[in-house]
Amino acid sequence: MTHPSSDLPRNISRPLAAALVAAAGLLTASPVSSATPERAGSVAAGAEILAAPDIPIGNVKAHLAQLQSIATANGGNRAHGRTGYKASIDYVKGKLDAAGFTTTLQQFTSSGSTGYNLIADWPGGDPNQVLMAGAHLDSVSSGAGINDNGSGSAAVLETALAVSRAQLQPTKHLRFAWWGAEELGLVGSKYYVNSLSATDRARVSGYINLDMVGSPNPGYFVYDDDPAIEKVFKDWYTGIGVPTEIETEGDGRSDHASFKNVGIPVGGLFTGASRTKTAAQAAKWGGTSGQAFDRCYHSSCDTNTNINDVALDHNSDALAHAIWTLGTAEPLPPGESYESAADVAIPDNAAAVTSALAVSGRTGNAPAALRVGVDIKHTWRGDLVVDLLAPDGTAYRLKNSSSSDSEDNVITTYTVDASSETANGTWRLRVQDVASQDTGYIDRRDDLADPAAREALLDGLGVVAVEIGLVPPRH
Ligand code: TRP
Ligand code: ZN
Ligand code: CA
Repeated sequence: MTHPSSDLPRNISRPLAAALVAAAGLLTASPVSSATPERAGSVAAGAEILAAPDIPIGNVKAHLAQLQSIATANGGNRAHGRTGYKASIDYVKGKLDAAGFTTTLQQFTSSGSTGYNLIADWPGGDPNQVLMAGAHLDSVSSGAGINDNGSGSAAVLETALAVSRAQLQPTKHLRFAWWGAEELGLVGSKYYVNSLSATDRARVSGYINLDMVGSPNPGYFVYDDDPAIEKVFKDWYTGIGVPTEIETEGDGRSDHASFKNVGIPVGGLFTGASRTKTAAQAAKWGGTSGQAFDRCYHSSCDTNTNINDVALDHNSDALAHAIWTLGTAEPLPPGESYESAADVAIPDNAAAVTSALAVSGRTGNAPAALRVGVDIKHTWRGDLVVDLLAPDGTAYRLKNSSSSDSEDNVITTYTVDASSETANGTWRLRVQDVASQDTGYIDRRDDLADPAAREALLDGLGVVAVEIGLVPPRH
């Protein structure tokens, strides 16, 4: 999108901000400072979020070797309706059963043949917040389908097995899935979604899809769907210094579409299919420009050798990181957080808007490390200037505008020294959009209905949109 310079007249954009004040109340005197802006900006650490293990690439590759053997022994493919598909299902199911998962084989019929989805539930977690990850296990009939989609199937399988090895006790309920007949039009995943009651659908808080994650000439693509899932993946890749791009090679071309179509938040990873890698992409990712990401896409050479190990390793680790991050967030203590009630629209290149939050019943001052969770949906976040306003009007700058920052959304947690401010009073998040064209809004309170997601947001992990919340320190 084009973007004007930041010198243009100012607009207010809508911020999504969640200001968390840890109401430690340590100071009773309140030498309230005047309106001197102070810097904040460090992202709070997520105390309760557990760190994911490194997924052993050797284990992921061993699953691919098994899937290749299955194809070889079954006429060269693992396609819907063929013996190689059922053998693939049996292999994955055997691993999961041995690891303590509760597995369900779901049968359906497509094109006159029986198809199978495999669903694996990890016991425990909140049944009203189900975090899912899945991959299609079928190949096309012309080949073994090792990149498409043995790669995603193996990465999801090894992540599930890592959950078992860790004996993870997530806050969310974890469910892993392998879909049949994706290559016939997302048949298995559509069947699964349609088989869920409205209640069970509403319980699925997110679905993560991996389809083609080891392309031999790889790109690193993240689905641009649910902002929270997207952010978890982007942040992980930023942490290892690998740039990502938004996935554009056919939105809706894999099983996440079945979930997205019924309103379930989705995300995912992809390393490219038949599209050609550009010179710019080769410059940042290596590989061969002018050549397809996967020259063997849907063909007989999609075998065991059609895999880039580094890409497969990264995407396996990224998935584990997302499962651990989104799945283990602790809920906030009930009654100890504050959230603003209203959405706030951020007008394009206009005056600032604020989202207000009234805090009462606290004694003393706000904490020295006040956590301010911010959740703003915006198509060009460089347009936005964001401040936290204390009850007396003191402004704490959270974020400046930047004409070069073309990323979307501001979903993060800032830490502010608010120890000179009384905790009680009306806190505000102030957001101004200072350049024209791109717009956004502060998200609604109903996005905060999920306490675990809110907690993760407060810890800078950005699971959901939040307004302003003030919470006491946690331990
Ligand atoms: N299995 C998908 C297909 O055959 C592969 C694919 C193409 C894909 N484009 C995609 C997967 C984009 C995820 C995202 O169409
Ligand atoms: Zn596929
Ligand atoms: Ca704008």
